[in-house]
Amino acid sequence: MYAPYSMSEILVAPLEDRYLDGFHTVLSLTYFNGDPIPADRLEREKPERRAFVAVLDGEVGGVCTVLDMTATRGPALLNCGAVAGVAVLPEKRKSGIGSAMMTWLTNHLRETDTPLASLYAYREPFYRRFGYEVVGRRFKISCPTQRWPKVKSDMPVQRLTPDDWEKLVDCYNRFAHARSGLNVRTQLQWQRVLGENRRLTIYAIGDPVEAYAVISHQSQFWSTDHISEIAWSTRRGYDGLLEVLGGLAINKDGLSWFEPSDGPFYSHYLDAGIDVKVDRPIMFRVNDVPGALSQLKPDPLLDGEFVVDIEDAVVPANHGAWRVSFSGGDVQVEPATDRAWDFRLSIQAFSQVFMGQPDLVEMARHESIQVASDAGFKAASRLLPAQTTYCMDFF
Ligand SMILES: CC(C)(COP(=O)(O)OP(=O)(O)OC[C@H]1O[C@@H](n2cnc3c(N)ncnc32)[C@H](O)[C@@H]1OP(=O)(O)O)[C@@H](O)C(=O)NCCC(=O)NCCS
Repeated sequence: MYAPYSMSEILVAPLEDRYLDGFHTVLSLTYFNGDPIPADRLEREKPERRAFVAVLDGEVGGVCTVLDMTATRGPALLNCGAVAGVAVLPEKRKSGIGSAMMTWLTNHLRETDTPLASLYAYREPFYRRFGYEVVGRRFKISCPTQRWPKVKSDMPVQRLTPDDWEKLVDCYNRFAHARSGLNVRTQLQWQRVLGENRRLTIYAIGDPVEAYAVISHQSQFWSTDHISEIAWSTRRGYDGLLEVLGGLAINKDGLSWFEPSDGPFYSHYLDAGIDVKVDRPIMFRVNDVPGALSQLKPDPLLDGEFVVDIEDAVVPANHGAWRVSFSGGDVQVEPATDRAWDFRLSIQAFSQVFMGQPDLVEMARHESIQVASDAGFKAASRLLPAQTTYCMDFF
């Protein structure tokens, strides 16, 4: 159905049955210690993933998969391909297979209604070459029990199980749409996140839920335990959660958890001995510049117009100048044939400002954007305001 991409003798295409053994071999050698991949795992993941192979001289030399997710951009929600399981046969690495796969995949995602992609890189520079860039700042907070903030809350607490996932959806979706980069999960994805091998317990604040924490209880005393996931839709919910977690921490050295960089902890509860570090960066890529821009949902009271020039050597369809106008909550994008650009940037920089962290202003300060017209740049800043980027799905 889709034209395969061929770079010299490397052919990249969706996985077909005749390449299944080779596909499993590459995955096994890279991600499963060389052991056979359990059949139930393959079956379980099948409906969720798109799989691709790179074939060289009739043999599968490389594989990659995509989980179909979404990513918020404030109120907007875009399809986002979560790229996972990128691997090349050890003896065939450094001969261009990985590059051929990433180039083909990026164009393929654009052609299959997937304007965004995201991934966790083994090393960022490899993916940067194909237009990906690090977006957002995930904080890992480690708080020793003796420094636990003294927060008092009168919010009700519910203890839930993964079967109660629907009670979390509204809180999670509010958390997600107040930021960018978060996957608005399907039922299957909720069940996967909460249905891991361990038995998970969920503490939820408020009814309806205004904050929750997912815990894999460890009976060991005086360890530092990691909380699987927290999200909140109100500050009082967040504070209620801190109080409950303080109870959990009572026979522990401390607790750690992830927060987006706009979380309340750093701004309100920092103390000596509390460790905050930026951890597990995620990279994003805009596969389809006009498609992604036209799906934004700006405030209907805002309007503006600008011409942005994009440098994208991997996706020729993105490369060049785009005239963008927005009013009444709608965005129109068309090739700019009759006007000079207002500002110019690489697809990596565009992917960052599209998500919002770093934003246009910060990137201009880094001189990563060439600005020819302040008016056009300001119009773009209204359409693409700064927004904390975060993702709670790991893949
Ligand atoms: C990461 C990985 C997928 C890259 O695939 P690959 O086929 O080795 O990638 P390429 O050959 O296209 O590029 C890799 C390097 O080889 C270089 N290269 C490409 N073609 C080359 C050639 N013909 N001769 C010499 N070097 C070449 C590239 O410039 C690149 O250089 P770098 O080392 O400076 O980054 C592969 O190495 C791999 O499977 N690694 C282990 C699993 C893994 O880490 N996966 C990523 C998870 S996020």
